[in-house]
Amino acid sequence: MNRSIANRCAGSAAALMVVACLLFVSLEAGAQSSGSDSKTNTAPAGNAENGKRIYTSYGCYQCHGHAAQGGAGSRLAPNPISFTAFVRYIRHPRGQMPPYTSKVVSDSELADIHAFLRTLPQPPAVKDIPLLND
Ligand code: HEC
Repeated sequence: MNRSIANRCAGSAAALMVVACLLFVSLEAGAQSSGSDSKTNTAPAGNAENGKRIYTSYGCYQCHGHAAQGGAGSRLAPNPISFTAFVRYIRHPRGQMPPYTSKVVSDSELADIHAFLRTLPQPPAVKDIPLLND
């Protein structure tokens, strides 16, 4: 009786170890890939459509505006800062912005958001807005 309980415990402890080990390995792999990604200077292609979706669902728009035009947060587009600087700031903001770690927003998701920001058009020049030229 006691022996079988001990055996069962040993079994579940072993299963836990395997789960913990797998978790550790996958975290390691994630950390490594994010490390190499953020060192690249050229912006990865990214998926602008997904970027637009997560820019909204992750709440970036709440401070930066739906068109990334700025608000409580700075203007992010058009002409977004380089991908390297973008990732660096989001991971380690220096002002009011809350930090987003790679566990919350992955580097590939940031690539998608950056791709979305690159698709935002320049606003028209003042001289092309009739109302402002009356
Ligand atoms: C709670 C408000 C808030 C949220 C949410 C927020 N930001 Fe910010 N962000 C700011 C503010 C304010 C700044 C200006 C600098 C500062 O005070 O940190 C900023 C600055 C930045 C900058 C640096 C811009 C530059 O020109 O240096 C980037 C890039 C940025 N945010 C991207 C994002 C992205 C992407 C998200 C969503 C994942 C996001 N922010 C969510 C408030 C926010």
